[in-house]
Amino acid sequence: MSEYSKTLRLMERGREFLGSDYAILCGAMSWVSERNLVSAISNAGGFGVIACGAMTPELLDQEIAATRALTDKPFGVNLITMHPDLFDLIAVCEKHAVSHVVLAGGIPPKGSVEAIKGGKNPAKVIVFAPTLALAKKLLRSGGDALVIEGMEAGGHIGPVSTSVLAQEFLPELADDHLVFVAGGIGRGQAIAGYLEMGAVGVQLGTRFACAKESIAHENFKKAFFRANARDAIASVQVDPRLPVIPVRALKNKGTEEFTAKQREVAGSLDREEIAMNEAQLQIEHYWAGALRRAVIDGDVENGSLMAGQSVGMLKEEEPVADIIQKLMAQSEEALTRR
Ligand SMILES: Cc1cc2nc3c(=O)[nH]c(=O)nc-3n(C[C@H](O)[C@H](O)[C@H](O)COP(=O)(O)O)c2cc1C
Repeated sequence: MSEYSKTLRLMERGREFLGSDYAILCGAMSWVSERNLVSAISNAGGFGVIACGAMTPELLDQEIAATRALTDKPFGVNLITMHPDLFDLIAVCEKHAVSHVVLAGGIPPKGSVEAIKGGKNPAKVIVFAPTLALAKKLLRSGGDALVIEGMEAGGHIGPVSTSVLAQEFLPELADDHLVFVAGGIGRGQAIAGYLEMGAVGVQLGTRFACAKESIAHENFKKAFFRANARDAIASVQVDPRLPVIPVRALKNKGTEEFTAKQREVAGSLDREEIAMNEAQLQIEHYWAGALRRAVIDGDVENGSLMAGQSVGMLKEEEPVADIIQKLMAQSEEALTRR
């Protein structure tokens, strides 16, 4: 490992926090981040995270057990804050003594952070925050580490780029807190840059989605290898009353269908057939279903091909271990050259 000594030194706090050789997380990706990819990432020295998504507590229970059977290295579980059974899912994580829980998709509901950190098997809590003020609040109220994720990323995104978030958040937080940077990272040179700015590690999604160990359908992977950065576009919001979190995905027929779905849900809101909460849940369920169609069924026309802008740098299927070693070597080379 000494061949990466500069990178490892800058990652030290992150590695210690995660309990992994390298402070490289594979961000949770619904349908993609299941037992095979998660265990492969952790076995290769990175940090895998199970995407719970819309899973029931029973399914999550099975997924954690199955992942454990494939790795004795630490891994995390990503829970979506708006999941109706959030507290039951937290209890499942506790039952399995999961070491790290990532809370994504919104502000953690009251009592959730306490539930994760209390109990027989307290876990570390990783949070996301789109603004510096919210980041400080979450880190004050129990968050152990923060992921800042720029709009270059695949999946649900905020409005600000990774480079701007890094400049805004890292000088304020890096001395006293653990900050991981995500969004648009395709090469180790970028990792070196963020580590030098004070990040303790990074999170990648798109780069790992098409790894050899990823169960994503062959069609899904081929679409990624064909795509350029500019093909990964953010969804548009059609109705100002219906706040839809934009999603970055490869442009296809499914992108247009999503616009139609938004109109349909906005119409139901208009006619007061559903409340805002329900409207947003319907949108989220739509995404989960569309992503499944692309990832599992291989329907790359109508399904959702969630992908970040780094997709243009993906050319072939590679084993997770090779991807991680390449990223580390590129980072080390960049740091050595400076
Ligand atoms: C196909 C796909 C599905 C994703 N699903 C989720 C998810 O379910 N929950 C979540 O918190 N983030 C999700 N993400 C975001 C990733 O966890 C990660 O933060 C992001 O991909 C990092 O940016 P990058 O794609 O530029 O590497 C998803 C990303 C992709 C590409």
